[in-house]
Amino acid sequence: MQAVLTYLAQNQTRFLAEFCDYLRFPSVSAQSAHTPDLLACANWLAAHCKNIGLDATLRPTKGHPIVVAKTPRLKAKTKRPHFMVYGHYDVQPPEPLDLWKSPAFEPRIVGREIFARGSTDNKGQNFAHLKAIEAYLKTGTPLPCDLTFVLEGEEEVGSKSLSTFLTKNRRELDCEAVIISDTGMPSLQHPALTYSLRGIIAFEITLHGPARDLHSGVFGGAVENPAMALANLLAQVRDKNGRIKIPGFYDGIVPLSKFERAQAAHYPLKDAQLKKLLGSPQLFGERGFTATEQRSARPTFEINGLTSGYQGEGSKTIVPSWARAKITCRLVPAQNPAHVRKVVCSYLKKICPSTVRMEVSAGHGAEAYLVSPTGRQAQAALRALKKAFGHEPILMREGGSIPIVNQFKKILGADSLLLGLGLPDDNAHSPNEKFHLDCFEKGQLMSAHLWQELAG
Ligand code: BES
Ligand code: ZN
Repeated sequence: MQAVLTYLAQNQTRFLAEFCDYLRFPSVSAQSAHTPDLLACANWLAAHCKNIGLDATLRPTKGHPIVVAKTPRLKAKTKRPHFMVYGHYDVQPPEPLDLWKSPAFEPRIVGREIFARGSTDNKGQNFAHLKAIEAYLKTGTPLPCDLTFVLEGEEEVGSKSLSTFLTKNRRELDCEAVIISDTGMPSLQHPALTYSLRGIIAFEITLHGPARDLHSGVFGGAVENPAMALANLLAQVRDKNGRIKIPGFYDGIVPLSKFERAQAAHYPLKDAQLKKLLGSPQLFGERGFTATEQRSARPTFEINGLTSGYQGEGSKTIVPSWARAKITCRLVPAQNPAHVRKVVCSYLKKICPSTVRMEVSAGHGAEAYLVSPTGRQAQAALRALKKAFGHEPILMREGGSIPIVNQFKKILGADSLLLGLGLPDDNAHSPNEKFHLDCFEKGQLMSAHLWQELAG
């Protein structure tokens, strides 16, 4: 083990240069113009995995390729535990570009932070695991288990191809658990094991009004304005206490236990800090729950994008022909995504005035995830976190979603160990995304210790 730790300590400068190469690929899965960049990124990643001694292949899918990289298997038929390390090389769109202090795909290092789209979500986090394994392989230190890295290119758009890939390659991917660093921790002093993620449903609603944009002076007043109708419709989704008014929306939710509420109350990021971090005039959420509970254990209805009419410079006096909202709902354990989708759609249709025509298009969907944090593997992960970060780890729920974890459970029967390395101020999905180099280095240490703890 000492050889592994020494190797890690001696190679950080090179690791950082390689990490920058990884970050330079604009692997934006939501935008089809970037398809070649995703392929180039996957090729680079597979080649890198081979360089560090993994047996790596690029597996084509209907969408973006999946990189599968394995530690060399022992010749003898002694069966060793097999773990999967999951991550994604695709990133969120970098827009709005003018808010970046330096270009999103030209990594910039300032002090101990590296700025680039994908730095924390998720390239830096999966690269930390790769570097830990490189240290084992390059120093000839025997690993106590077999590992398979599965790095996909569609996580940010719902992991469709990977789901099919899991079913087709069930045997090959059969494992004891999936290790995922794609979440966060409250601070470097509070490493965390996440035991729950929220689920999600995505959809778009478009309200169609007049057949074309109209002169608002000539026709305005005698025809419905779709933007007004949409604003009115969306305003009826939530009450003043932050509760979703859609009948059936909260069906099936298991109330938080006393223990969990106590746990949430000890979450180190307090409301005042959160307000400052988010730069919002005031926090707002469902009455009766703390901010920590609201953003990790309660469902939401969020408008992610709202478009209608003229958005260019100056004014243009029109009644727009249409208005559209991109919406996602976050779901919590025991909520059924299909049921929520149904009740949301029927509510919106019911309250939609006959002066416009509503079109709904469904996007991706996934259930929430919840796993017991008391099992043997979770305990091993907690020991590895403590060794790497030098602080007692906490247990937490996260509000983000990693849709594929449900398929890992359903298809492979494997639980996911969520060992996030991101910090609350990393700006994931925002302009000026960054990753802290302490997270990168301690993440490598955590991974190095993890295999010993898990297989020991
Ligand atoms: N890394 C995030 C998920 C995450 C972040 C979980 C922070 C918990 C805490 C992941 O890349 C992500 O953004 N997932 C999407 C999934 C969606 C597009 C289906 C999300 O949560 O919006
Ligand atoms: Zn993300």
